[in-house]
Amino acid sequence: MVSRRKFIEYISASPVIAPGVASTLAGLSALGTTEALAQSYDVLRQAPTMNGDLISTPAQALNVFDFEPVAKKELPPAHYGYLASGVDADKTLKANRDAFDKIKIRARRLIDVRKIDTSVKIFGETWASPIALAPVSSVGAFHPEAEAAAARACKVKGHQMILSTVGSTSIEEVIKERGAPVWYMLYPTDDWAVTEALVLRAEKAGAPAIVLTVDRQGGRNTETLFRERRGDTRTCTDCHAGGFKNEVSRKPMFDDIDVSKVTNLYGTGMTWDYVKRLRGIVKGKLVLKGIVTHEDAKQCLDYGVDAIIVSNHGGRAEESLEATIDALPEVVKAVNGKIPVLVDGGFRRGTDVIKALASGATAICIGRPYVWGLAAFGQPGVEMVLTLMQREFETIMRQVGATKLSEINGNSISRV
Ligand SMILES: Cc1cc2nc3c(=O)[nH]c(=O)nc-3n(C[C@H](O)[C@H](O)[C@H](O)COP(=O)(O)O)c2cc1C
Repeated sequence: MVSRRKFIEYISASPVIAPGVASTLAGLSALGTTEALAQSYDVLRQAPTMNGDLISTPAQALNVFDFEPVAKKELPPAHYGYLASGVDADKTLKANRDAFDKIKIRARRLIDVRKIDTSVKIFGETWASPIALAPVSSVGAFHPEAEAAAARACKVKGHQMILSTVGSTSIEEVIKERGAPVWYMLYPTDDWAVTEALVLRAEKAGAPAIVLTVDRQGGRNTETLFRERRGDTRTCTDCHAGGFKNEVSRKPMFDDIDVSKVTNLYGTGMTWDYVKRLRGIVKGKLVLKGIVTHEDAKQCLDYGVDAIIVSNHGGRAEESLEATIDALPEVVKAVNGKIPVLVDGGFRRGTDVIKALASGATAICIGRPYVWGLAAFGQPGVEMVLTLMQREFETIMRQVGATKLSEINGNSISRV
């Protein structure tokens, strides 16, 4: 084995061997079980050749960040701006990432971690991984196959996903493509009849959970979007008919629903009474997305909410400067194990995932990274984004000595 490895190392590094041959050899040396892959970050594993700075195949990606510049190149400036934008100066968007660097990982040694189990059970359903896809609106703006491609990517390794009310694909089709139910994220509108119709449709399609997003009540200033849009020479109205009703009614979840009385999507004016009313019609699980304080987490318990997603909409709700990974502990403490707590915002690395689970999260969601993969390469891009994050996560699980998620706890990290 050692001499075979040395031979491949020598050949691959040799300036006289054609790059294609070297990468084939590197590919051969990478063959093995997932377990072996996760244990080895062998320098020969990745194809070493690339033309230019951008990856041209998903397999060339070393981490999820490699997909973003490709997505930027593929997308019209306005669509890229919509994806990239936070609010105001994008400082909360940045805070979501920076906060991970303030949490250290405490490695444990001499534990047999050859076999690990990353599955998690939520609402009676077992997910193979605690990494799920967050709801993203208008995914068709990033790739023609939109949520269908994302759903197929989720199916490959058993990831869960949440479909947005203003997604580009119907829930029936997404469930068909994933081959299993997905969660449905609700923008309720300000017409109760529409709310009821959306919930009914999602539950009839099989969605086990309705996720009410509560962080878009105040309007927002997406400056990065506005700036990027200036560089877009196309005429937006060629595709986007003007007016709110057109925007809403062209989303498939509103097909056959009368939206003539709807004046806003986000249900502006919603209060906890609204949650109570919604609780009354949701037959399955009710999840609130956008909770970031212990006060609101306690209210969730009082109002019969079944799970919380700690979220600031990926820095797209308000410029709070509060990273979700920093808001997570107070929510977890308030909930005190009574209901699952999920979290999203800035998750890009396996180490980010373990920091959230060690802080008490049940699972995490990713938004932009999967869209980068999708915009760059379609379904294979999403698959690779999930593969990379999962592989990094499995690696760090082993390094903290955890063989299953329940063995990840507060001792796995230290907050500075
Ligand atoms: C382009 C885009 C569209 C989004 N649309 C929705 C949406 O329709 N509903 C919702 O609850 N959250 C939406 N989000 C927020 C995500 O669900 C998630 O909270 C966020 O993307 C997580 O942060 P991350 O992008 O850093 O991973 C959107 C995010 C982006 C980037």
